[in-house]
Amino acid sequence: MSETTSYRLVNVSGTVPAPITHWAPVLVPREAIEAEIQRLADEPAPADGRRAAVIVHPECVDGTQGFAPGVDVTIEVLKPGEQTRPMLRNSNQIHFGIQGSGAIQVGKETLATGKWDVASIPSMQPYSCKNTGKELWVRLVYSNAPLLRKLGVHWSDYAQPGWEIKAIASTAGVNVDINRANAPDIQISAEGARLRGYEFLTDIEVVENRPLVWPWESATPLLSRERGDGLRNIILLYNPATERRNGTTHSFFATLFSIPKGVPPRPVTRGHKHSSVAINYHFVGQGKSVVDDETIHWKTGDLLLSGPSWSEHAHYYDGHGAQVLTIQDHPLHIGMESLIWQERMDGPILNLGSEAGQKGYVGPRQAG
Ligand SMILES: [Fe+2]
Repeated sequence: MSETTSYRLVNVSGTVPAPITHWAPVLVPREAIEAEIQRLADEPAPADGRRAAVIVHPECVDGTQGFAPGVDVTIEVLKPGEQTRPMLRNSNQIHFGIQGSGAIQVGKETLATGKWDVASIPSMQPYSCKNTGKELWVRLVYSNAPLLRKLGVHWSDYAQPGWEIKAIASTAGVNVDINRANAPDIQISAEGARLRGYEFLTDIEVVENRPLVWPWESATPLLSRERGDGLRNIILLYNPATERRNGTTHSFFATLFSIPKGVPPRPVTRGHKHSSVAINYHFVGQGKSVVDDETIHWKTGDLLLSGPSWSEHAHYYDGHGAQVLTIQDHPLHIGMESLIWQERMDGPILNLGSEAGQKGYVGPRQAG
């Protein structure tokens, strides 16, 4: 392509603001997930040991392999004794165990995980998964790889020898006494504008991000199990490395939701909206989600793109109890100052993290 045809000029003068158009909600039924698990288990193990299938949304046509525009969901399977070749990637991951058990080795740390346990794998930390149990080990793995592919920077490679002793807080480079601590840092306006040396860009303060596990059995004492027990319907799995962005990884939060048996179904009302995208995996129970004007019925084992960005959505349970893992790219949006949230359709659109947030939200305290 010649230089003169390598770009276009697009006239956007006077372009009026346009509404958001989002991907459709998509349900992946338990039967389809189970069939794919079986197919992965039946095929010969690949050279790197990673039996995996990514669930791609029908509207993902740019090769980024998303279930939502910036999020992929991968079914990963290992037979007893099998282990994946150690690798590292600059996407971050949440692993949710849905069957069996195993160990994820991340650098020097070993995370033992079982059914309904959640684990985080930070970016660029080499890891390997091993089935240490006697049955098939199956995980749903969520990552921000599609967003990085869109940016053209999803980096991944197999780990080099010695990967298991990688230290996170190592000091790289020569002349280590030249660093941000002795670089210029000068305030130039009363409002706060500053001038800083380039060292601030290359020698960034490290916030340690350890791989973590949130065992299901540690979360359950806080979650409501019986009607009227005063416990919580929803709990955030918090990773302190994400600080005020309240994530499980730097891209995503994971929440565990539980509504006990006997809570009467509530009538369909208006939903809420947020720019973060929500993906629900229903591991117990059945119910329905209303997304814009569409009603989607779900049951145990179904995965649902339940809250496409800026869709109006709400979830309803049938009175027999339900448990749900939700993944949202909420911390990512806080970092970009793009987390807009409308809790009531007749209420304000709030920019959460940049202006006063939603208080008086009683939903999480109304258990049972
Ligand atoms: Fe939502």
